[in-house]
Amino acid sequence: MKVLAIGATGFIGRHVVPLLVEQGIEVAVLHRGDTDADFPAGVRRIRGNRNRLDHATAELQRFAPDVVFDAILYTEQQARGVVRAFRGNAGRVVALSSGDVYRNYDGFRGKSAAQPDAVPLAEDAPLRDTRYPYRGSGLTFEHAHDYEKILVEQLLLAESDLPVTVLRLPAVYGPGDRQHRLRPYLQRMVDGQAGILLHEQQAAWRWTRGYVGNVAAAIAFAVADPRTGSRIFNVGDEPALSERKWVERIGAAVGWRGRVVAVSESELPNHLKQPFDWRYELWTDTSSIREELGYVELTPLDEALQRTVEWERSTLDRIEPLNYREEDAVLQSKLNE
Ligand SMILES: NC(=O)c1ccc[n+]([C@@H]2O[C@H](COP(=O)([O-])OP(=O)(O)OC[C@H]3O[C@@H](n4cnc5c(N)ncnc54)[C@H](OP(=O)(O)O)[C@@H]3O)[C@@H](O)[C@H]2O)c1
Repeated sequence: MKVLAIGATGFIGRHVVPLLVEQGIEVAVLHRGDTDADFPAGVRRIRGNRNRLDHATAELQRFAPDVVFDAILYTEQQARGVVRAFRGNAGRVVALSSGDVYRNYDGFRGKSAAQPDAVPLAEDAPLRDTRYPYRGSGLTFEHAHDYEKILVEQLLLAESDLPVTVLRLPAVYGPGDRQHRLRPYLQRMVDGQAGILLHEQQAAWRWTRGYVGNVAAAIAFAVADPRTGSRIFNVGDEPALSERKWVERIGAAVGWRGRVVAVSESELPNHLKQPFDWRYELWTDTSSIREELGYVELTPLDEALQRTVEWERSTLDRIEPLNYREEDAVLQSKLNE
């Protein structure tokens, strides 16, 4: 089998390529050449811009992939480019999407009047009514204006001549995570804080997370399995922990002796208030990929956290120290109650 992996030199994709090579799959990675990734011998590199796949037509046709794994598909226009380039030239596409397609994501961000949808959210759970979730959000990533995984999914899945497997990813964490998902908690733990304050609803709120090595394994399963066809699969580690449990497990990985302290909105210091509605959980149902493709996590939670904590610790000396005055005032009264 030959796989073309578009943008697989980044945080997630770089872990997928070796898993494919291990299975005897021939891999070519298309990227611009700005990011280095240490791949096993034999992995081919194709220099190119995913927004101009037509410029690489000859090389792509020469490689003749059976499967295209697209790690960096964000906009409807990019999805059109994929269809143009690979309809008739590849057997299947595996595209990375996100759990942000679900309607609960709108509710979570205060953008939906609908009641929270029941969790865990299966692949057929309601989708957001709004479009372009990051337009005007102040986020600076390249595709913030046109990012819309719902439109990407719909455009690809409408293609009858090109089977497309869509993988809806969770919140991915691990070494190299540019979003530093563990950092706010880890920094407090390393600083020896006696407690970490959470909004009382946030403490119970569940979000599906995925260790980068596990997410990569799920992707590799879907890429290598010819049975997947035109399907959507949620991806993520089980169980989906509440925020309280998540912080406690990070604490255990760090050897932290403090406590998670849940407080009301009015007790929470202003700098910890977040504009989210914690009634809307982002817990997805990942049973389909497990039952149908036999996917299981490669790395258990404790080991995943150990590895991530070790990496994240090495980044802490490059960031501003925190001022704990307000948090300590609340903690003092709560811990003495
Ligand atoms: N992280 C999460 O929590 C999360 C959650 C849900 C979904 N996802 C999905 O996961 C995917 C992101 O994967 P990732 O984190 O591995 O990506 P990433 O770290 O941003 O890496 C992307 C790679 O693609 C290459 N690239 C970027 N722009 C390119 C272009 N125009 N043409 C060709 N190559 C290009 C870059 O290499 P060069 O610089 O060499 O070109 C880069 O190394 C996205 O689809 C995202 O929506 C992530």
